[in-house]
Amino acid sequence: MNDSFSLDGKVIVVTGGTGVLGKSFISCIAEVGGTVGILGRNRKMAEESATRINRCGGKAIALCADVTKRNELNNARKLMLDTYGKIDGLVNAAGGIFHEGIIEDNGDILNLNINGLKKVMDLNLWGTVLPTQVFGEAIIRNGEGVIVNISSLAAKRVISGIMGYGLAKSAVEYFTKGIAVELSRKHGDAIRINAIVPGFFTADQSTKLLSGTKKAIEKHNNEILKRTPFKRLGGCDELNGTLIWLLSRASKFVTGTTVIVDGGFNINSGI
Ligand SMILES: NC(=O)c1ccc[n+]([C@@H]2O[C@H](COP(=O)([O-])OP(=O)(O)OC[C@H]3O[C@@H](n4cnc5c(N)ncnc54)[C@H](OP(=O)(O)O)[C@@H]3O)[C@@H](O)[C@H]2O)c1
Repeated sequence: MNDSFSLDGKVIVVTGGTGVLGKSFISCIAEVGGTVGILGRNRKMAEESATRINRCGGKAIALCADVTKRNELNNARKLMLDTYGKIDGLVNAAGGIFHEGIIEDNGDILNLNINGLKKVMDLNLWGTVLPTQVFGEAIIRNGEGVIVNISSLAAKRVISGIMGYGLAKSAVEYFTKGIAVELSRKHGDAIRINAIVPGFFTADQSTKLLSGTKKAIEKHNNEILKRTPFKRLGGCDELNGTLIWLLSRASKFVTGTTVIVDGGFNINSGI
C-alpha cells in the first residue's frame, strides 16, 4: 500500500516552486523520491532550493521562467528533458493577487479596473493553461502522467474584494474538469488532472493585500477563524498529503476532481 504513494523515478515540474506553498511542495515531492523542476522567475530562490534538495540526496533543478510566456516555458521544458529525459508530472502552483485586481473597501464594483482583473487572470488562469500545454505535451509523449492545479476557496465562495482572483480560480476549476474529459477521451486513464482547493493558510495572500491596518488584519483573520470549524489557519505543509496522493498511483482512478483542504470552512453554515 505504502508504495502506491511513492514518486520514485518520477520527474515533476512545480510552477510557483519558489513560493511559500511551492517550497513545501518541492520538498515533499523530493522526500517521496520524485525529481523536481523548480519553476519561478526568481532564479536565486529556485537555485537555492535545488541545491538544498540535492545536498539532502534528492534530485532537483532550477527552471527560470515566467508562466505567461510560452518561449520561456519551452526553454524550461527543453532543460528538463535534456537533464532528465522525460516529464511525468506538473503542479501548477504559480498564482497570486495584485493590488490592481482588488476592490478596496467601499470600492465601486461597476467601475472596477478591467486591466487589473486581466492581469490577475493572466497569471492565475493563463499561467495554468499555458504550462499545461507546454509540459503536457512532454507528459503525453511520456505515455502517462499527472497534472495537479492549485485553485482556491475563492472559486467556491465569494471572498469580498478579490473578484479577478475568484474569476480566474473558478476558470481553473472548469479547465481542470474540461481537460480531464478531453485527455481521457484520447488517452484513457494514462493522463490524469485534478485540482487542490486550499482554504486559508498561514501564507494567505488576501490578508496581506486587502487589509491595511493591524486592526483590519485582525478583523479579517477573526472572521476566517470564526467560520472555520478547526478554528485555525492551515500550515504550509498541510496540502502535501493531498498533493502526493494526487501525484501518485494511490489516486489512479481519480481525475477531473477538486479536493478542498480548508479545516471545514466551505461546508460550515456558521449555525
Ligand atoms: N497561501 C494561501 O493561503 C493560498 C490559499 C489558496 C490558494 N493559494 C494558491 O496557492 C498557490 C501558491 O500560493 P503561495 O501562497 O505559495 O504564493 P506565493 O508565496 O506568493 O508564491 C507565488 C508563486 O508564484 C510564482 N509566480 C508568480 N508570478 C509568476 C509568473 N508570472 N511566472 C512564474 N511564476 C510566477 C512565484 O514565483 P517567482 O516570484 O519566482 O516568479 C511564486 O513561486 C497560488 O496559486 C495561490 O493562488 C494560496
